[in-house]
Amino acid sequence: MTEDKKSPKGPNKSDTIMMIAAKRGFFYPSAEIYGAKAGFWTYGHLGTRLKHNWENLWRNYFLGLSRSYFEIDDCHIMPKKVFEGSGHLAHFNDPLTECSKCHFRFRADQLIEDALKTNVGGLDEAALTKLIDDNKLLCPRCGSALMPVKWFNMMFEMKVGATGEDIMYLRPESAQSPYLAFKREFEALRKKIPFGLAVVGKAYRNEISPRQGFFRLREFTQAELQIFFDPDRINEAENWDFVKAYKLRLCLAKDASEGKITEITCEEANRELKIPKFYAYNMAKVQQFYLSLLGIPAEKFRFRELDEKERAFYNKLHFDIELDMGTLGGFKEVAGVHYRTNHDLGGHQEHSGENLEVVIGDKRFIPHVLELSFGVDRNVWAVMDLFYRQEPERALFAFPSLLAPIEVAMYPLVNKDNIPEYSSELYSKLGKEFKMFFDDSGSIGRRYRRQDEIGTPYGVTVDYDSLNDNTVTLRDRDSMKQVRVKGDELIQTLKKVIAGELSFEKAGAPVVPKAPEKEEKE
Ligand code: GAP
Repeated sequence: MTEDKKSPKGPNKSDTIMMIAAKRGFFYPSAEIYGAKAGFWTYGHLGTRLKHNWENLWRNYFLGLSRSYFEIDDCHIMPKKVFEGSGHLAHFNDPLTECSKCHFRFRADQLIEDALKTNVGGLDEAALTKLIDDNKLLCPRCGSALMPVKWFNMMFEMKVGATGEDIMYLRPESAQSPYLAFKREFEALRKKIPFGLAVVGKAYRNEISPRQGFFRLREFTQAELQIFFDPDRINEAENWDFVKAYKLRLCLAKDASEGKITEITCEEANRELKIPKFYAYNMAKVQQFYLSLLGIPAEKFRFRELDEKERAFYNKLHFDIELDMGTLGGFKEVAGVHYRTNHDLGGHQEHSGENLEVVIGDKRFIPHVLELSFGVDRNVWAVMDLFYRQEPERALFAFPSLLAPIEVAMYPLVNKDNIPEYSSELYSKLGKEFKMFFDDSGSIGRRYRRQDEIGTPYGVTVDYDSLNDNTVTLRDRDSMKQVRVKGDELIQTLKKVIAGELSFEKAGAPVVPKAPEKEEKE
């Protein structure tokens, strides 16, 4: 049995995470008091923090890769011409089939993959229709015949202005904004190449069947970095020596059916697989982001190569980043490294009439684009899946401190005898340094469980001894160990523990709990 199968003992992992997410305020269906629409979700107070923490880590890390990488912000509603230039109006389609009787519409490739347990990515309408007919696949809702497959454009169209004559579209990817802004930003930022423009912002897709709960959305957030570079220098990377011996975890297109992982150094990937150095360097940086910064176990991470049929219409070389999630039954895409060539700038130059070439030295050319593209919401789901632990006496999210919505919880043992006053003062001091929560209701055991369940890594308990000797108990979420720390030294101690400079055991005098922590349900 996989960890996500329904068990007679209770809900599966996915249902459990959804339940905690809604109950504790990570996320829940948008407009749910009116019945909600699939594919639209609200981030609650904890989810908003978790999402922002992930976005800020992403920003600091990827914009920190070069002094020539910058961030912009842009409108979500864009003129029709943008998507004529980008090719989205013609090509951004999903295959759709409709029931001849109940007229429910399905994404044809997903319906076939669910029924036949095979990958049909990249097949055209005729081939998908033939598979439906040959295998006598029927409407999953009412059992009637399905109509021939046709393409469905996934962009949301909008009528703008009082007459409604102007047709505009909600952007289906954040990427178009840097292409449209490229010329201005390149001029303003001293004309260096490689040159990066990032956007962290919303994208909108009219998904035919937004299933898998929180994972396939109609309104979602992307964090994307477009790196403009000279195509003649694609086999160069400034910091190549730092990554050349670093091993990438690849699932090559030829091995996709068995899911075999090839571990290969960047140098070997360049020499043997002909992956250009600039591309391989960025793959290494993406893998390090997941493994070293977010602490995702290596065996849960892979790059999956997409062949010509499967990759997006604008890509020449395409590896998806996939994480192995129990809630979704295996490796699923959360991001991608895309070599988009001059497809976008070339298309916009042609359709707008604006010259988007650059002049570097005596060379004039349209830069090519390497795109690092991440779905923020999918990554939020992934960290909830990968850091969730069900232990005999408790459930917890073992988030790294960098991601945790709350870093430190403060627990006054009782609400009397100056303990609240002492706690409030300490809370104010800690609040200047850490994301805090003040929890003074219920038994101390219940308070620990509540904070474990939302992934708070550290807790501070103030008790009667604190008033006498100015020490507090510091509790570690993962080990449930406790140490006694001086109130005056708490900030520095916590900073060192969070930075990994001091082990929790050495952070203070050990406290032997009177009894091991037991399950305490609310
Ligand atoms: N700019 C390139 C681009 O948009 P994509 O593979 O279509 O490429 C990039 O999307 C990432 O955006 C995906 O890897 C995924 O994480 C996220 N994404 C795409 N469609 C999504 C959806 N319907 N719901 C949630 N996330 C989505």
